[in-house]
Amino acid sequence: MRAFKQPPILGKTLLGLAVAGTLGATQVQAGEVEVLHWWTSGGEAQAVGVLKELVEAEGHSWKDFAVAGGAGDSAMTVLKSRAMSGNPPSAAQINGPEIQEWGELGLLGNLDDVAEQGDWDALLPEVVADMMRHDGQYVAVPVNVHRVNWLWANPEVFADAGVEVPTSWDEMFVVGEQLRAAGYVPLAHGGQPWQDATVFESVVLSLGGSDLYRQAFVELDAEALESDTMIEALTTFKRLRELMDDGMPGRDWNLSTSMVIGGHAAMQIMGDWAKGEFIAAGLEAGEDYVCAPVPGTASDFIFNIDSFAMFRVTDDAAREAQQTLARLVLEPEFQSAFNQVKGSIPARPDLDMSEFDSCAQQSLADFQGASEGNTLVPSMAHRMAMRSDVQGAFFDIITNYFNSADMTAEQAAERLVRAASVAG
Ligand code: GAL
Repeated sequence: MRAFKQPPILGKTLLGLAVAGTLGATQVQAGEVEVLHWWTSGGEAQAVGVLKELVEAEGHSWKDFAVAGGAGDSAMTVLKSRAMSGNPPSAAQINGPEIQEWGELGLLGNLDDVAEQGDWDALLPEVVADMMRHDGQYVAVPVNVHRVNWLWANPEVFADAGVEVPTSWDEMFVVGEQLRAAGYVPLAHGGQPWQDATVFESVVLSLGGSDLYRQAFVELDAEALESDTMIEALTTFKRLRELMDDGMPGRDWNLSTSMVIGGHAAMQIMGDWAKGEFIAAGLEAGEDYVCAPVPGTASDFIFNIDSFAMFRVTDDAAREAQQTLARLVLEPEFQSAFNQVKGSIPARPDLDMSEFDSCAQQSLADFQGASEGNTLVPSMAHRMAMRSDVQGAFFDIITNYFNSADMTAEQAAERLVRAASVAG
């Protein structure tokens, strides 16, 4: 195992900003920013530490409001109760269309000044900028772009079993049995609704392509949701259980990644925040671990953009701290240092990526290819594709189907159609 390498830019950046922070201290009113997020795994915590240090180097204080639970389901529940009691944090990790839902409640603050100074309009791709605006005003700032449709593999395990990383579902099941016979868990998984949905959406993309994916999960089209291809995707998804272990119910995603890191399991289907765990363990992309697109999705890209939305605050110092946070997030230093730890690629496309590892380079190339080929799709499992109430209903159906011995793929598809029609 290799020693953890701090991204070279990080040390330089923090030093520079500490100096700048001291020099500018007379003009800046030091305030506190309370930040709700769900980055509590080893890799995630290191990544959020980058932001905390930058904010503090500017003289502000960071109040950490971390709510454990992958994909933020628990964090969103806690956020709702804080907001309902009239006491939301000043900043919160809120992703995708939910930004609009919070905007509609009139609770979000305006970031237009920061956006204008940083020229966000020119900097951000239009689709990303759109997601960050409510009613024409910036209310959130994007942190990164995660790719969801990744397969993570331990090459030593594959070598020991004498098999190759699968590139089709047929191969997946054959190779899986061989890995099992060699004493490994073929596919590490955590049985939680969002993790089930994460695997399922990749299977849908693989078998149905980006058109069917969009019809089903963005347009909520009934025909797509009960199509033969969707039935096949549901069937393949459930069959993947054969490759998982009995310990999966409720297991956190990062524990599954640890199973791959430790050579107990061969593979995991997970977004590239999993790479944060490999990095935190001191491992090298392409050598100690392998990233490959989920079978059948090499030219497609399921995106998941993390962002911070800012709640309205009245105190000037708190507002100053909040605006500083928003500004820092899109600056090159943060984008480069944070994303090299988090596993994602930068939210701004103009950065030098030469310091990034081979998985990030591939992610970027595939992101660009998918944008050009119109095969870039928003993650259903990670709040990018649909309203939160519909997403919640989809999660229930997908998980119940995955865990039920009786529910057929046809019945699950019918339920998805019903959940989608209630939304319409
Ligand atoms: C995702 C989030 C990622 C990652 C993951 C697991 O929804 O976008 O940043 O942290 O959850 O917690």
